[in-house]
Formats: sequence, C-alpha cells, structure tokens
Amino acid sequence: MRRIALLLVAVVMVASVVACMIPPSQHADGQTAPILGDKIPPGYRDWTLISVAREEGNLNDIRAKLGNDVAIKAYREGKLPFPDGTIIARLAWSYVPSEVNNKAFGRFQSFVAGPPKEKEGVQFMVKDSRKYASTGGWGYAQFNNGKPGNVAVQSSCLSCHSFVKDRDFVFTHYAP
Ligand code: HEC
Repeated sequence: MRRIALLLVAVVMVASVVACMIPPSQHADGQTAPILGDKIPPGYRDWTLISVAREEGNLNDIRAKLGNDVAIKAYREGKLPFPDGTIIARLAWSYVPSEVNNKAFGRFQSFVAGPPKEKEGVQFMVKDSRKYASTGGWGYAQFNNGKPGNVAVQSSCLSCHSFVKDRDFVFTHYAP
C-alpha cells in the first residue's frame, strides 16, 4: 500500500514537471494559445493616439493606432526595440462620406469614420521577447466582434510585418 502511494506521488511529480516544461503559448495538443488569453486588453480604447492611416482597395477604411503607456514612452524617446509590455492596437472603421459635413462646407469633400470594420477587426501587437521569441518578440492578436480570430489568420501577421523588421516589426511612426 505504501509502495503504491509512493508511486502515485512520483507520477504526480513527473506530470507536474512535464506540465511546467510546456511553454505557456503552446497547448499540449500543439495548438497555439490565443494571444492575450482570449481577452481584449481592458481600457485599450482610452490609450494614446499614435497615428492614423487610410487604406484604399478592398479594405477601404480609415484606421487609428493606439499605444499603451509603455508603447508611447518608447515612441516618444525614439527607442527601438520596443520594451516588453508594449501593446499597440489597430482599429479600423469604414470610410464614408459625411452628408452633414459636406453641407456645412458647401461642397462634397468630407469623409469620416463610419461603422467599425468587423472583417478586419481590432488588431493588437503585444511585446514579450521571451514568450514570443519565435515571432520576433511580438504576439499578434485579432478580435472580430470582440472574439479572438483564428490562429491561421494570426500566423499571417508576421510574414507581412517582417517588411519592417529593422523597425522592430512596427510600420506606424509616431505623429506628434
Ligand atoms: C499584408 C500585410 C499585413 C498583414 C498580413 C498584417 N498587417 Fe498589420 N499592418 C500592416 C501595415 C502596412 C500597417 C501600417 C499601416 C496600416 O495600419 O494600415 C500595419 C499596422 C498594424 C498595427 C499597428 C502597428 C504597426 O505595425 O504599424 C498592428 C497592431 C497590426 N498591424 C497588427 C496586425 C495583426 C494582428 C495582423 C494579423 C492578424 C496583421 N497586422 C497583419 C500590414 C499588415
């Protein structure tokens, strides 16, 4: 009986050591865990504006990049690479003409942010140089209607962001 108990203790110990060895971003079944643990960072909508961009073509949107305090500090100090704890958010809205604004201007010239873009969702880049060492230190996450996007979509992020590897994978410049 004592032998069995000892054996059980040993089995539990081995199992917990093995569990600790699995990196946090990887589940035992080989599936990559969603970045940010399935949750949109609370309060991200109140972060500081880094800059805006407008995409034509299929996207046809207007977008804003917001940074948390760590991101903004690094941007302002012009420091690269971004330190761990940096999070950059990308929000997009459809690009629509504004009837009211055009009336005020007396001609057709005004475009504004319409409804939020659901297809492109809200995207985040999270810096954790240890956790995301295999993807240049950044974790990429996309949320459509508040739900985490699939991992296949997210793995495409790095290939494109590698265009600006020399800028620590970040396209957007800080517009003071
Ligand atoms: C086809 C290329 C491409 C792909 C794929 C791509 N991005 Fe980007 N991303 C860009 C470009 C270009 C910008 C800057 C201009 C803009 O926002 O339109 C950008 C900007 C960003 C920003 C703001 C910080 C920065 O680098 O300027 C975040 C955050 C972001 N992308 C996250 C993601 C995530 C998450 C994915 C995958 C789900 C992704 N991106 C896929 C090209 C891409």
